[in-house]
Amino acid sequence: MSIRNAVIPVAGLGTRLLPATKSQPKEMLAVGKKPIVQYIVEELHRCGIERVLFVTGRGKSSIEDHFDEDPDLIRTLRETGKEDLLEELEYERLGVHFLYTRQRQQRGLGDAVLCAEHFTENEPFVVALGDSIIGRHKPSPIVSRLIEAFETHNAACAIAVETVPTDQVSMYGIVKPATNTDVFEITDLIEKPKPDEAPSNLAIAGRYVFAPALFDAIKRTGFDHRGEIQLTNAIRLMLQKGMKIVGVKLPADEKRYDIGNFESYFETFVEFALTDPVYGEKLRQHVKELFKN
Ligand code: UTP
Repeated sequence: MSIRNAVIPVAGLGTRLLPATKSQPKEMLAVGKKPIVQYIVEELHRCGIERVLFVTGRGKSSIEDHFDEDPDLIRTLRETGKEDLLEELEYERLGVHFLYTRQRQQRGLGDAVLCAEHFTENEPFVVALGDSIIGRHKPSPIVSRLIEAFETHNAACAIAVETVPTDQVSMYGIVKPATNTDVFEITDLIEKPKPDEAPSNLAIAGRYVFAPALFDAIKRTGFDHRGEIQLTNAIRLMLQKGMKIVGVKLPADEKRYDIGNFESYFETFVEFALTDPVYGEKLRQHVKELFKN
């Protein structure tokens, strides 16, 4: 069975990126020449996804505008001889069908994914976090690998993971692997553990494949002390019900760029800009000059 539906939750408040996110979604911040969410849509399209549901919230309408066809802009570019820029807008013609729904209150990622229940039509589906780009040097096929692992292992959930330094485990959901292999069964997972309580340093990396059984698990997962339903806790419930959860490691050249805080957003922007095929070299020279002073 091939999986054709993906959900991109983009309803979060993005408070760690204020004031940049006061009136624009963090998922629309540019990394190099493109907004973050465009990288994600292109990644999903390459992996065979045909329908994308954005779970949006207040102040997120620029995401809809971005993926809407804009015949006036296309005509203007043609008439003014800027045909080369049309290529940059290729995503408008990808053939991906975009749908939108609203998470009314920001009650956590689990609650946002629950908003996709009707969209998924009881089929397995992909979840791709709207604030994480995977891979820079080469397009990442991680979603295809997750789908393959999900199907061959007859799993209820497949999760992309990446190795993080021990002092950073408290920022992520951390999994406990059954084996030290690239694809492995997960025997436990814990949201933002203290370093001495972390079962490994394999962090959940913003890409998942789920069976529809996830929705029941989310409904049975309580709110945490911040009034949020954590997706990691819902996956834990699936595990406790005896469902199989598999992890797939991201290779080193398919790094996850999480732009949820300024430190990683700045690093990500600089890395992408410095390697831009057109502007990268000049920027590198400029940065070298800056370091001389
Ligand atoms: P984060 O965990 O980074 O939360 O969301 P946030 O609310 O966006 O940011 P901070 O913590 O206030 O800075 C990870 C992804 O899940 C989505 C976000 O839009 C982001 O893409 N999300 C998060 C939702 O869709 N709804 C939520 O209630 C929370």
